[in-house]
Amino acid sequence: MRASQGILLILLLMLNFANNSFVMNILAIESSCDETSAAVITNGEIRSNVVATQLIHTQYGGVVPELASRAHQQHIVPVVDKALNDAKVTKKDLDAIAFTKGPGLLGALLVGTSFAKSMALGLDIPLIEVNHMQAHVLAHFIDDPKPAFPFLCLTVSGGHTQIVKVAGPLDMEIIGETRDDAVGEAFDKTAKLLDLPYPGGPLIDKYAAKGNPLAYPFPLPEMPGLDFSFSGIKTSFLYFLQKRVKENPDFISQNIEDICASIQFTLVDILLKKLKKASRETGIKEIAIAGGVSANSGLRNAIQELGEKLGWNVYIPAFEYCTDNAAMIAIAAQFKFLANDFCDQTVSPMARMEF
Ligand code: KG4
Ligand code: ZN
Repeated sequence: MRASQGILLILLLMLNFANNSFVMNILAIESSCDETSAAVITNGEIRSNVVATQLIHTQYGGVVPELASRAHQQHIVPVVDKALNDAKVTKKDLDAIAFTKGPGLLGALLVGTSFAKSMALGLDIPLIEVNHMQAHVLAHFIDDPKPAFPFLCLTVSGGHTQIVKVAGPLDMEIIGETRDDAVGEAFDKTAKLLDLPYPGGPLIDKYAAKGNPLAYPFPLPEMPGLDFSFSGIKTSFLYFLQKRVKENPDFISQNIEDICASIQFTLVDILLKKLKKASRETGIKEIAIAGGVSANSGLRNAIQELGEKLGWNVYIPAFEYCTDNAAMIAIAAQFKFLANDFCDQTVSPMARMEF
């Protein structure tokens, strides 16, 4: 995609939006971890969002990168086909192809990136690279209500835990992040210690709903500034379990609900303490959550309550846009399209990727 072509496209877009006749269709592809997903966005509206979750990893207790890449290869053609069919859009109707460039598993990213590049080349349309973590934040612009700028977004997933200051759709700054494990990892690793299958986060959530969150207190980490740490809590949970199971071999099965409620309460408490601090320091009261862990009911309820107490406007995404999906890649891509921000065929995926 040459710059002159891009400028022409934007001019065309402005002209056609002006007389309401222009239809802009973007196909977006997400393949950063264990979900193969494709979505179509038309003039800002998500027309389809197909997600194929890879079940193969359950038997290994975590995502196996090589198996993820192979599963993406198997899923990508049917998933893209279904996204186009569901949206009633043909390949010829597409104006751009977007894909997740990173961060994520390199082999998994490579499948989506190569597919998007080939398809864009074949159709002779522009390519748009998207940062997966920025896309989690921008998922808030799929439905109403949308946060006003600037807002803070607590982005919590299996690989990241960040507080992001969002000044504009493409203007974001990480003001706090984890120094070790991500909070989703903490959910999954504690679930594993309880012998729950991967991914354990949703199961902890399920058991926690019937448990007492104050049954077993765990120490909170002391981390300066707005950064997080979750490795200590995982270790203290391990020692706690070892001691209790030694005293009573049936401790876990007899107390699973209270154990899950207590660990979830502690993890949510760690997140919200820092978010409160970030809001105080920045003076920002527009507060959003995003990423897989934002599906957690403990977090969703606690942030609502805290928001009411502190006068925040709280934004919580619909469940389908919390965990990995291509709709969020599509909305991010649309912002980039409008900013004339395209990439060329030399683009490569990046396992680690800054904003
Ligand atoms: O955003 P995501 O789908 O993938 C990454 O980008 O990592 O997040 C996946 C993470 C996993 O750690 C999963 O256990 C966690 O989100 N998760 C939850 C819940 N649903 C998903 N954690 C706690 N409670 C949930 N309901
Ligand atoms: Zn994610």
